[in-house]
Amino acid sequence: MAILMDGKALAARLRQQIKDEVALLTQQGIQPCLAVILVGDDPASCFYVANKEKDCAECGIRSIKYVLPAGTTEQELLALIARLNNDPAVHGILVQLPLPKGLSAAKVITAISPSKDVDAFHPENVGRVMQGKYTFAPCTPAGVMKLLEAYNIPVEGRECVVIGRSNIVGKPQAMLLLHANGTVTMCHSKTANLAEVTRRADILVCAVGIVNFVTADMVKPGAVVIDVGMNVNAEGKLTGDVDFPAVEKITSYITPAPGGVGPMTRAMLLENTLTAAKMAAQA
Ligand code: GUN
Repeated sequence: MAILMDGKALAARLRQQIKDEVALLTQQGIQPCLAVILVGDDPASCFYVANKEKDCAECGIRSIKYVLPAGTTEQELLALIARLNNDPAVHGILVQLPLPKGLSAAKVITAISPSKDVDAFHPENVGRVMQGKYTFAPCTPAGVMKLLEAYNIPVEGRECVVIGRSNIVGKPQAMLLLHANGTVTMCHSKTANLAEVTRRADILVCAVGIVNFVTADMVKPGAVVIDVGMNVNAEGKLTGDVDFPAVEKITSYITPAPGGVGPMTRAMLLENTLTAAKMAAQA
């Protein structure tokens, strides 16, 4: 029977540590502050942004929410980002993605000051992650690494397979596993003989966004399975990418979804915001 990797509990412990550090910094006159920009009213984005505000409040981080109409022009959005870049009281800036049609995410992300880019999506921060010398690690891959560490799961020398090649999860996840000396393979929608490749994995990370994508025949017995997926299934329930009941039976460790990676992602955003505030304090 697999050991469940309880991201919810680990994230709660991390939030407590972050809260203590935030309190110390605030006593010194610097209250960490995150600006969150939401353009439009996509229900999932509204939900994610509300969670971010709640997490910040719990840890004593100030959060400022900017809700802009879907018809906002790129110029207006870039002007807001420029203002926040120049505001010394703001340490982190996050633009919730996806953006409405007509707004270029690439352009908007590149406008954020790299020292305030707590998502680590700016090309400069992406490059730093690639080089292994970074201040901000992207939240979801960093959360996965923290989970592996917390459960004393070694990465060095082990076969790590990442399914999904997004800029937000798959690509940076592969880099972080590589920096931890894993032997990393990336799979995607064009990978031939996918199950053959994934069955090699000691550590399998799945981030594709399809219900029941990872089935038991794709998993080596005893493997560690990390489910980054967040989908709504046919019954309307939140679920990951892994056929959990079948896969759980053969793994050594597995994340539940929800309750695994998601809370860790949220905690890493708080950690990056704290880091940004500390850097500003030292500047
Ligand atoms: N949309 C989905 N995930 C994310 C994330 O990690 N950051 C931002 N800014 N938008 C997202």
